[in-house]
Amino acid sequence: MKYQSVRGMEDILPRDIAIWQRLEEIARNVFESYGYVQIRTPILEETSLFVRSIGEATDIVTKEMYTLQDKKGRYLTLRPEGTAPVVRACIEHNLYKSQTEIKLYYMGPMFRSERPQKGRSRQFYQIGAEVIGNRSVFGDAEILSQVNKLLKSMRLKDFSIKLNTLGCKKDKAAFAAILKKYLSARKNRLCEDCKKRLKKNVLRVLDCKNEACIFVIKEAPDIRDSLCSDCVKYFKALTAILKALGVSFIEEKNLVRGLDYYTGTVFEISHHALGSQDAIGAGGRYNDLVHDLGGPDMGAVGYALGIERIILALKGQEKPLAQTETAEGDIYIATMGEAAKIRGMRIANDIRKDLKLRALTDTKEASLKAQMRNADRRGVRFTVILGDDEIKKREVIIRDMRTKEQINISESKITQTIQERMK
Ligand code: HAM
Repeated sequence: MKYQSVRGMEDILPRDIAIWQRLEEIARNVFESYGYVQIRTPILEETSLFVRSIGEATDIVTKEMYTLQDKKGRYLTLRPEGTAPVVRACIEHNLYKSQTEIKLYYMGPMFRSERPQKGRSRQFYQIGAEVIGNRSVFGDAEILSQVNKLLKSMRLKDFSIKLNTLGCKKDKAAFAAILKKYLSARKNRLCEDCKKRLKKNVLRVLDCKNEACIFVIKEAPDIRDSLCSDCVKYFKALTAILKALGVSFIEEKNLVRGLDYYTGTVFEISHHALGSQDAIGAGGRYNDLVHDLGGPDMGAVGYALGIERIILALKGQEKPLAQTETAEGDIYIATMGEAAKIRGMRIANDIRKDLKLRALTDTKEASLKAQMRNADRRGVRFTVILGDDEIKKREVIIRDMRTKEQINISESKITQTIQERMK
C-alpha cells in the first residue's frame, strides 16, 4: 500500500522551504518592530468556541470544520482560523490584567474542509496579528499600515487593500433588515445558496460571485446609508489617517466578511495573480467578541494572511523572493579515516560558531570521491579536506569549488582563510 497525503493537505518539501522560512522571518521582524509578541495556541479547540465566534450560519461552521469526538464524547475542532483561539487564550490567562492593550502575532496551520483548487487547500497556513483591548481608530490604522508594510517587506507588488465598514452592532443589524427586505422582493432572481443566506446570513449575499446575484446586488441599498453618525465619523477618520500614512486602499461598499464576529472596519487584501481565490489576507474589528466569549468588554482588531496565496502571487513576479537566497555560505568538510572524521566534525563546529556559515560533514562514511561529489551537488563554496597525513601535520587542504584551486593551510587558520577568500 502506497500512502499519499490527505487530499487538500500538502507537504511542504525541502526544495520549497526557503521561501517559507524567509516569509516567516520577515513577518517576525516586522511584528517585533511594532512591539507585537508571538502567541502559539493549540491546533484543537472545543467546537463551540468556533460556533460562537465565527457564527452558526457561516460557511465555515456549517460546512467546513474538521470536527471529531474524543473518547469522552467531547466535540473538538481543528482550528479553522486563529482569532477565536487567541481571544480564548487572552481570557483564559487574564492577559488583559497586566496590560491594557495586548498586541499578539501568530503563524501556523489552519484547517477548512473546502473543495481544493489553486490557492485553496484544506490545511493552509496563516500569519496573523491581533490587537486586543483597543477601540481607537488608531488601532485600525496601525493594523492596516502594518499589513501594508509586511506585504511590501515580502516584496509583494500590485496587491490592493479593499476597505469597508459594517458599522456598530446596531447599524449592522439595521442594515441587515433593510437588505433582507430588498432581497426578499427579488428572491426569485437569487441563486439557491443566496436564497438560504437570505434567511440566515443575509449580508453574505453581497459577496456572492453568481452573475444573477451580482446583478441584483448592484442596485442594493448601500451600507453607508445605515451608519450612525459615530460610525461615519470613525470611518472618515480612518481613511484620513491611512492617507496621511501613505497606505493605499480602495473603498468597497459591498465588502462583508464570511465570519460573523466583525463590526466596524473590515478589509480584504487581494492580488490579481490569484484568480477566483484572490484574497491573500483579510481582517477587521471585532469589538464584541471578547465579551461574547466570556471576557471583559474590550474592543479588538486584527488580520490574517494566507501564506500559500502570498507564495503563489510572489512566484508570478519577475524575481521571486527565494531567489535572493544563495548557497554561497556552504562549506563541506571531506574526510578520510575515523580520526579525520572526528576532527572534521570539530572543525565544522568552529566554522558554524565563528563564521556563522553552514558547515556540512559526511555522516554516511562515504568515500572521499563520493564526498567530493556531494559537495559539488550542494553547490558549496569551499571544501575543507583532511586525512591522516593532514592530521599529523595539523593542516587541512582548502579547495575553492569555483576555481578548483587547492591550498594547504595550518588547521588554526581555517576560519580566517575562508573568511578572507569569501570576500
Ligand atoms: P479569513 O478571510 O477567513 O479570515 O482568512 C484569512 C486568509 O486566509 C484569507 O484571505 C486567505 O488568504 C487564507 N485562507 C483562508 N482559507 C483558505 C484556504 N482554504 N486555503 C488557503 N488559504 C486560505 C480569518 O481567518 C480571520 N481570522 C482574519 C482575522 C484576524 N480577522 C481578525 N483577525
